[in-house]
Order: sequence, then structure tokens, then C-alpha cells
Amino acid sequence: MDSRVSARTLAASLGGWRGNGPAYEALADGVRLLCLDNRLAPATALPAERELAATLGVSRTTVAAAYQSLRDTGHIESLRGSGSVTLPLRRTDPGPHESDAETIDLQQASPTAWPGLPGIMAEVIQDAPALVARIGYDVVGDVGLRTAIAEHYGQRGLPTSADQILVTTGAQSAIHLIASVLLHRADRVMIETPTYPHAADAFRRVGARLVGVPVDSSHGWDLERAEQTFARALPSLAYLMPDFHNPTGRTMTAEETNAFVGGARSVGTLLVLDETTAQLDIDRRSVSAAFPEDEGVIRVGSLGKTVWGGLRVGWVRAAPDVVRRLASGRPVHDLGTPELEQAIAARLIPRLDEIAAQRGTLLRAGRDSLVEELKRLLPEWDVPEVHGGVSLWVGIGEPLSTPLVMSARARGLALSAGSRFAVEGGHDRRLRVPFTASPSTLRRAVGILRSAWDDVRGGSAIPSRTDFATVV
Ligand SMILES: Cc1ncc(COP(=O)(O)O)c(C=O)c1O
Repeated sequence: MDSRVSARTLAASLGGWRGNGPAYEALADGVRLLCLDNRLAPATALPAERELAATLGVSRTTVAAAYQSLRDTGHIESLRGSGSVTLPLRRTDPGPHESDAETIDLQQASPTAWPGLPGIMAEVIQDAPALVARIGYDVVGDVGLRTAIAEHYGQRGLPTSADQILVTTGAQSAIHLIASVLLHRADRVMIETPTYPHAADAFRRVGARLVGVPVDSSHGWDLERAEQTFARALPSLAYLMPDFHNPTGRTMTAEETNAFVGGARSVGTLLVLDETTAQLDIDRRSVSAAFPEDEGVIRVGSLGKTVWGGLRVGWVRAAPDVVRRLASGRPVHDLGTPELEQAIAARLIPRLDEIAAQRGTLLRAGRDSLVEELKRLLPEWDVPEVHGGVSLWVGIGEPLSTPLVMSARARGLALSAGSRFAVEGGHDRRLRVPFTASPSTLRRAVGILRSAWDDVRGGSAIPSRTDFATVV
């Protein structure tokens, strides 16, 4: 079944698409970026020109010229009487998250694997005959792994039993499961803006209405907005990243934690705390004010950032009856986490603190060189101070994030524009720059950003379409 995107949704996804060059080309580039990121899937019907023009506040001629440019580059086709439809990516376009060897990919903030991982994998493979003698997956997770995860929470001061843990295929799958089992259509979900975009997508997918609460690298969470949102929207669920929030790197203070706990209790909001980045502490000085033990709190964890994104093991910690509800709703999209991965995870969990400390050292090198190089080459940008997490949420001063990202891509650097992390539009003056790559790669990336920024600011903008087709 083909899908269509409304003018409103397209406008929100585009964020601030205007560069300093011709408006139609900037708009076409914004749509191209959505296609490259697979946020506009092939065979999606675009809004009629007149409707999109009205929503974006531009002339119909601008939209018509943008669609013509997209037709010229093979990104859409327009059929008389049935509008314009996106086409599959061309051979010369990089698919989402696939870049050629020359491209620096900073779209994903994925640290390289923890160096001890291959050794642990080799040990587990020794047990392969015993592993393959079993079914190999199950819907709640291996009891040994669930016990290890529960003990890890116990060491953090949160006594936990194995029946409070559900093992998932990564945190994303946990978030999707929570959204699909615990939410109903039109439920309100409080969510930080900026946020981790795939979580926002999971909540949108089940028909929830998202209400954004701003968070900022320098000032933290907007508590006034949070309080209003609790009172006016009566959210069923709040999705938060209290420690080393992705993408801002910010950690909640005691005051912020108390405000969310108090607000959630007052209107019965379920708090979902995503702790995927919680252990990525670089400076070992920001100790978050722990959320209290509460029936209304669900925690999501993962080995994805601490150990390796390729190890698809995450989990949910919740009350046993919530775990049972989630387990019964799971098989429709996923029958369970592979036991091989779980066996590897079971050996990693007891060593998680040691692994996290090593990860902190690695991330420090990336963060420090990225900060230094950004300050040197792009002194006009606002580079925040962060003490952990995976990225810098950089202020670029002008709403040019999308054109900047397009220009960087044409030069061999893949990044996501600030608007990708927005909940209700905006963040066009921001760029998420992950510091998960090596210092030398990050220095090269900043060099590319400097040239891309000069281009975008100068208005000569993005290299010609032909260059784009071959370079990207
Ligand atoms: C905040 C946050 N939550 C969840 C995920 C997804 O994690 P996983 O790889 O375990 O599915 C990520 C990965 O980028 C993340 O940054």
C-alpha cells in the first residue's frame, strides 16, 4: 500500500530548510535529505503544490520549481492527475546509513566495540553445541541474564528481581514494545525536545500525540513547560533520558528529577526512563539524582552504546505484571532475543562498570578533540560543555542546519540536521555532532564542516547536482 505525507507532516519533518541560495533548490534539498534518510520512503505521495506552498508560506512557483528539481534528479515522479510520488533512491545515492568507504558517517552516534568483546564472543562460541541444543530464543529472556541484570540494578541501589526484567533486542525494540502495549491512540506522551528520534517515531506510530518539553545543554530541562504539560496535557507516559541525554549530553539535577517525579505522580503519568546512554560518563563528576523506586517508573537499558551497537541486547525493568503484559504483546513483532547474544551479554553485565570506565576514556579522547577543533575552526559556533554521552548539540547561530548537512554530505560527511531531533519542528540552529569516532576522523569532519559552512553562508551553497550525484 502506498502512503502519503500531509503538508503539515512534511513541513515539520523539513524543519528549517531555507539556505541562502534559491528557495526552490533549498526546498528540494530538504526533501532529498528526507529521502536519503529514508524518512520519506519510496512510493510516498507528496502534498499537492498549492497545499505545500500554503503550509510553508512560499509561493506555488517555488514548490513547483522544487518538484521540478526533484524530478530532474530522479527523486520523484509526477503523473498527470495523481500528483508527485517519491522514487526509490538512485544507484548514486547513499541509502540510509550506507556510505562509501570515503564517507565519514556521523549519522549514528555509535562508539566502536569494547575491545574485550571478541574474546568474550570466542568463549561463548565454545558453548555452541549446548546453545544450539535449545530453542534458542524466548520472549522474556534467559533467566541467567535477567538475574545478572537484576543484580546490576541492585548494585546501583535499586533492589530488583529477575521477574522485573524483560530482555529485548536492543533498547529500540523495548521502546517500541512499551509504546505498542501500554499506549492507546491519541494518548499524550511527554517527550524531551530535542530527543532520540526513533523513540519519538515509535510513539507516533501507535497514534500517540507528542508534547515536547525543551532541554538544552547549558540550562537543562524547562521545568515550567514540564509542569504546564503535566497539568494541561495529562500525559499517559513521559519518555525521558535523565543521564547524558541524547543529543544534549545533559544530566538531570535533583530539582529536575523531583519536578518530573512530582508531576508524574500528580496526574498518574508513567515515567519511561531511557538509560541507554546513562553509563557513558566521561568526567565522572555528574552524578544524577536517581529517580526513586516507584511502580510508575519503567527503565530501559541496553548494551548498544556501552559495549557495541551490533550486540542487539537491551532490556526493560518494570513491575512484574508490566513485564508480563509486555511479554504477552511481544510476539507480534519479535519472538525473542537470540540466546547466543544473551549468552554473550550474561558475561558482560557483571563487568559493566569496568567496561563503562574504559568507554569513558575512549569517549573523552573523541569529545576533547572535537571540542578543540570546533573552537579552532568554527569559533562563531556555540560549543557546549558536556561531561558524558555521545554527542555535542552545537549551536550554529542561524537556521541553516539542513542546508549545512546537505552541503557536508556532498563533501563526504554524513550527519543529521538538528530538526531530526525535534518533536514539533525547530532546532534548525542546531547540529548534533557525535564524538564517537576517532580523534583523527573527528578532526577531518570538522574541516569538512568548515567548508560546508562557508558554502552555506556564502550562498553559493551546495555543489552542483552532478557533483552531488557522484560525491555523496
Ligand atoms: C537514547 C537511545 N535510546 C535507545 C537507543 C537504541 O538502542 P539500541 O541500539 O539498544 O536499540 C539509542 C541508540 O542510539 C539511544 O541513543
